[in-house]
Amino acid sequence: MSRAGTVVILAAGQGTRMQSARPKVLHELCGKTLIAWVLDQALSLDPERILVVVGHAAEEVEAEIARGPASELCECVVQEPQAGTGHALQVCLPALASAEGPVFVLYGDMPVLTPKSLQTLSEVAGDVAPEGMAMLTACPPLTSGLGRIARAPDGAFASIVEDRDCTPEELCIEEVNLGVYAFPATQLREYLPRLKNDNSQGEYYLTDVARMFASDGREVATVELADPDEALGVNTIAHLAEARWALQVRLLEEHMARGVAIEDPATTFIDADVEIGPGTRILPCTVIRGGVRIGAGCEVGPFTHLRRGSVLHDGAELGNFCEAKNSEIGAGTKAKHLSYLGDAQIGAGANIGAGTIFANYDGTHKHRTVVEDGAFIGSGTTIVAPGKIGAGATTGAGAVITRGAEVGPNEVWVGVPARRLTRTSVNETESETQGIERGAAD
Ligand code: UD1
Ligand code: CA
Repeated sequence: MSRAGTVVILAAGQGTRMQSARPKVLHELCGKTLIAWVLDQALSLDPERILVVVGHAAEEVEAEIARGPASELCECVVQEPQAGTGHALQVCLPALASAEGPVFVLYGDMPVLTPKSLQTLSEVAGDVAPEGMAMLTACPPLTSGLGRIARAPDGAFASIVEDRDCTPEELCIEEVNLGVYAFPATQLREYLPRLKNDNSQGEYYLTDVARMFASDGREVATVELADPDEALGVNTIAHLAEARWALQVRLLEEHMARGVAIEDPATTFIDADVEIGPGTRILPCTVIRGGVRIGAGCEVGPFTHLRRGSVLHDGAELGNFCEAKNSEIGAGTKAKHLSYLGDAQIGAGANIGAGTIFANYDGTHKHRTVVEDGAFIGSGTTIVAPGKIGAGATTGAGAVITRGAEVGPNEVWVGVPARRLTRTSVNETESETQGIERGAAD
């Protein structure tokens, strides 16, 4: 099917309750900003265009949008000042002049809403097209601050009453408006210019458009969310943590459904955009950041931190207090204890002893280290990058491999600074090798 319709994302609000200098929609959860989650929701509707209404910190928000996968479909519309949700749509009117098909409205601060719910909204909107509109509702445990859905005696939608304008009876209505709508473009263009701001806030309410549909006898279909948690709007840092948890649970469940054994979901943090192969075990207190790729049959954790750019091939194992950043770890390679693997390329079947540090940063630049297949890095080795450890080579416990050093294949290097052990006779080699503390293996 070809792309259809327009999505408008309302993201102009200041978000003062976040108590943060950072614009609200640029706060991150599970490795993505609020606005990035919502742009993904928008993309799931396969629209022709996405309009993002920006106001507060518009330039920063625009820059974030430009970095994302939706950038080509996106256009930012500046709303200044912010005179209400209806006003936010009014400023989009020029951009919507020739829009056809549905106009969906999403909020920039509702990251938990699922593409599945939006799909249902879209289908219902199709059922009531071309004259009717559809909207999402929910019955959350706490309704304060939200607009209530007022219905006629026959149950048909009548209007949305803002919390502050509710009568005591209306305050008892359990069904609330989420602010997510699908309007037919033609009628939206007809009603928006007629909005008035004669309400307690002096704002132009988008909710009044729904009332206009109903009073003109046009259908307003409501789609109630089965899980009201999807409607979570982020207005405070506490909401951000709540929404993060909801998204985290979803991500962990997706991994588990694909055969990843997550021992303790409550202490496992895995961002969006992480790939993990089947049969891999993730042990408690582990943090895995966006973009990390983990093969099948690996073991990660407990207490492991995998940062961006890290790739673990099949059967690799990273254990407690190991951090990897921008590093490739070959099949079957193990680093089980207390290591920092930064900007490293490590081959297959290598053993990285306890306390090994890849000193990748010289204070100005980051440098890479290469460790080839089957290398044995003794406990407490420091490799000052750039460096190279050849296939099958060994470093002794506590060795400091200085900057630029190249340890050849099968060579043995020991000491501070590390020097190659030379082998003049078989006997000598044996005694020397015995003298090397190979440190912790498994
Ligand atoms: C609105 C609805 C209310 C609904 C609630 C769900 C109206 C009048 N009320 O409440 O029925 O229950 O959402 O959360 O629509 N925004 C702009 N420009 C503006 C004002 C808001 O872009 O001028 C954006 C905000 O950044 C936010 C969203 O619109 O993402 C909702 O704004 P908010 O002020 O939180 O909604 P309410 O008016 O409280
Ligand atoms: Ca809100």
